[in-house]
Amino acid sequence: MTFFYKHIVPTGLKIYLKQINLCKLTHRVTKTLRAREHPVTKTLHTHTTLGKITTLFSGAALVDQHEKVKGIFVTGTDTEIGKTVIAGGLAAILKQAGANVGVMKPISTGDMADAEYLKHAAQVDDPLHLINPVSLCHPLAPSVSANIEGKHVDILEISKAYSILQQKYDYLIVEGVGGIAVPINDDKLVVDLIKYLGLPIIIVANAGLGTINHTMLTVEYARQHQIIILGIVLNMLQSGKSSLVELTNPKEIERVTQIPVLGVVPFNEQIGKPNPDSDYLADFISKHIELDFLNLGDML
Ligand SMILES: Nc1ncnc2c1ncn2[C@@H]1O[C@H](COP(=O)(O)OP(=O)(O)O)[C@@H](O)[C@H]1O
Ligand SMILES: [Mg+2]
Repeated sequence: MTFFYKHIVPTGLKIYLKQINLCKLTHRVTKTLRAREHPVTKTLHTHTTLGKITTLFSGAALVDQHEKVKGIFVTGTDTEIGKTVIAGGLAAILKQAGANVGVMKPISTGDMADAEYLKHAAQVDDPLHLINPVSLCHPLAPSVSANIEGKHVDILEISKAYSILQQKYDYLIVEGVGGIAVPINDDKLVVDLIKYLGLPIIIVANAGLGTINHTMLTVEYARQHQIIILGIVLNMLQSGKSSLVELTNPKEIERVTQIPVLGVVPFNEQIGKPNPDSDYLADFISKHIELDFLNLGDML
């Protein structure tokens, strides 16, 4: 059945069948079969064995037309929280490890600096408009920015770019825009984009005071939408030593969310600058976050 659906049924027909809901059953069987083989499922099982991730697996959430690529969607509890730095760091780590990794910033608002940072971190030569297919002028929520420009953010446009990158790379690091419930057009939120791409997420949150509430809300919202959460990265946005709050938050966040905190990334002036050296970024981030979830051994 998997073979039939994957290789015999053309993509156009799959989309059509999906739309008219005729192949629900075929899809369900295929999803179950694929979910068992999916690399993310494997990762998840590793974590589950460690007892770190609970109640997160949903076969359905893993599968979409983009199931071939391994990838991570980096979201955050807020904007300006460190998504670009962490996504760039993960891309740089994979690149340094010898993986065939690409990056994507599907939607930007304001400028294309995030796409440049990611491109530099992953050391790829893709044009910025492919990495960042939807770039809106105003630094506002995408739906608002697009309305002002008289544009409509179309997930299909993102999908086209994603498909090209998906064919080129074995691994994709995708950075979100704002937080998980930000509207990207009149009827879709970032969470819908994540589901459409079929990627598991990492949540970047501020390491400081107030983060437990924001992190918990993001985790619960992702869970409601059956999105797989690989872990939480706490990021220090200000210089200075860790205070009691940064020292105690990771454990409490793990306790209340039941999601692993992969690490606390300290403030570092170098990585905060535009387009830092990729090896430097990889070395710094890998010192501070737990990398088991990347399954580096498996991908090379
Ligand atoms: N650990 C860090 N050390 C130094 N600067 C950081 C760190 N994390 C983020 N920054 C800086 O803080 C700002 C917001 O980070 P960014 O990754 O762009 O957030 P987001 O992508 O969530 O909007 C940027 O100027 C970035 O360079
Ligand atoms: Mg960013």
